[in-house]
Amino acid sequence: MAAMTFAEFYDRVRPEITSFLRNFTQDHIADNRLREGCLHLLGRGKLIRPTALFATADTFQPGIAGEDCIHAAAAVELVHTFTLIHDDLPELDDAELRRGVPAVHVKFGHALALLAGDALFNLAFTALQEAPFSGKDKREYVLRELTDSITAVIEGQVRELALSGRDATLAEIEEVERLKTARLFACALVCGAAIAGASDAQIDALRRFGLILGRAYQIKDDLISATGDSRTAGKSLEQDEALQRPTIIRLLGVEGAQARFNQVNAEALAALDKLAATADVSLLRGLHEMLVSREK
Ligand code: IPE
Ligand code: IPE
Ligand code: MG
Repeated sequence: MAAMTFAEFYDRVRPEITSFLRNFTQDHIADNRLREGCLHLLGRGKLIRPTALFATADTFQPGIAGEDCIHAAAAVELVHTFTLIHDDLPELDDAELRRGVPAVHVKFGHALALLAGDALFNLAFTALQEAPFSGKDKREYVLRELTDSITAVIEGQVRELALSGRDATLAEIEEVERLKTARLFACALVCGAAIAGASDAQIDALRRFGLILGRAYQIKDDLISATGDSRTAGKSLEQDEALQRPTIIRLLGVEGAQARFNQVNAEALAALDKLAATADVSLLRGLHEMLVSREK
């Protein structure tokens, strides 16, 4: 059988991830309003992180069953969605549009947005508890990866706030990119690999790739914020400039940021080439291509 292209793989896993996220949330949250607030954004995003987890699992164990990965993949997306709900609040980025619909606080009020974020955060751990991992080690590995990544995201957000309005250095900006975005990307990739039984060396190589890819993803996000339109992106875009966020664009301008993106991207490809020595990375190449060419 011919190997699946990344596009075919993505088309296959997306509905699986979406229906799991929605059913799982429906089954675990009894309060109608909280459930609606939680469901509002679920499944509407690109689902890149859970797809990345599935893709690495399939890379190291071709044909691995969906049920081996779905709880961990859902946990990563639940955490990501929780951070977006809180990120959009007026106290942070003050954004009214997210994933093509009104932000949770706009539709349901600020208090419910805080609480829906909290609930999704907690559901991630319920999902990991219920995951049918083969062996205690895998559960512990995923749990440790996810909790460390959540701390990184929160620290990244705090650092971004502290640097807003100031002249941040390149090193400070890259640290924000790494904490806020790259760490959770790497988490998704290494968790998929660990579930599929990849070696420690493969996981290390994948982590390096994930940390670089995640930074490229954030630079692309900043470029979309500066040059894209909010209808295509499905989210409010004007915040970075208005709030003087410490982005690569504030430091280098759009052209400089584009050049930096090309550079980081080349580093990501080099990291992937290293991994290619020990595994068939065609799905990961497809993932990389999709991420770098995205417009939303
Ligand atoms: C948005 O993430 C926030 C960033 C860290 C760049 P995505 O671009 O993956 O957003 P969704 O999940 O598709 O909505
Ligand atoms: C997203 O960061 C928030 C987190 C990573 C927690 P951004 O503020 O840069 O992303 P968008 O533009 O709101 O999606
Ligand atoms: Mg934001």
